[in-house]
Amino acid sequence: MSKTLHKPLFLIIIFILHSFTTIHSKSFNFKKQKQTHLHFYFHDIVTARHPTAVKVASAPTTNTTRSFFGLVMMMDDPLTVGPEPGSKLVGRAQGLYASADLKDLGLLMVLNYYFMEGKYNGSTLSILGRNAALTPMREMPIVGGTGLFRFARGYAQAKTHSIDFKTGNAVVEYNVFVLHY
Ligand SMILES: *[C@@H]1O[C@H](CO)[C@@H](O)[C@H](O)[C@H]1NC(C)=O
Ligand SMILES: *[C@@H]1O[C@H](CO)[C@@H](O)[C@H](O)[C@H]1NC(C)=O
Repeated sequence: MSKTLHKPLFLIIIFILHSFTTIHSKSFNFKKQKQTHLHFYFHDIVTARHPTAVKVASAPTTNTTRSFFGLVMMMDDPLTVGPEPGSKLVGRAQGLYASADLKDLGLLMVLNYYFMEGKYNGSTLSILGRNAALTPMREMPIVGGTGLFRFARGYAQAKTHSIDFKTGNAVVEYNVFVLHY
């Protein structure tokens, strides 16, 4: 008796659950995952009339370490197509880098790439990672994104193009590989 009563109810519940999952998978379009490779140059201008990276904090002991441990910089660095200072602007790297390694230069990078060009205009990618800035090739994780880069994950590879040890100004070549929807 009770079995015959419960069977229709059970089927109705299955039907309702099924329609919910169908609606959700449709609205997110999970099948259309894309891979994008971005290439640009990052200009960290520390010494200039209008610097794009400035010191916002340091510890009393920062100058006593080789790695400037405790130094915190805020940047709004231009991202360009080529390595020249006048090269076409495609976005900006906005956020913080801080010396987080007592011994060697190991920067904590917390920043957003804010793109301004073409179909990427207004979209962002977020980076959170370690940057051993004096090594030839560094890799940092892409942990998210907005706009065209929703659900983004991937990695950024950084290679110093040029550095002026007198001024601290540097140009860094970036290759960014990202999966997104
Ligand atoms: C550390 O060095 C910098 C640059 O040489 C200097 O501007 C700053 O005053 C120094 N800070 C301390 C606490 O000595
Ligand atoms: C990017 O978008 C902003 C705001 O919508 C607009 O003012 C600007 O002209 C756009 N830039 C390019 C290069 O399309």
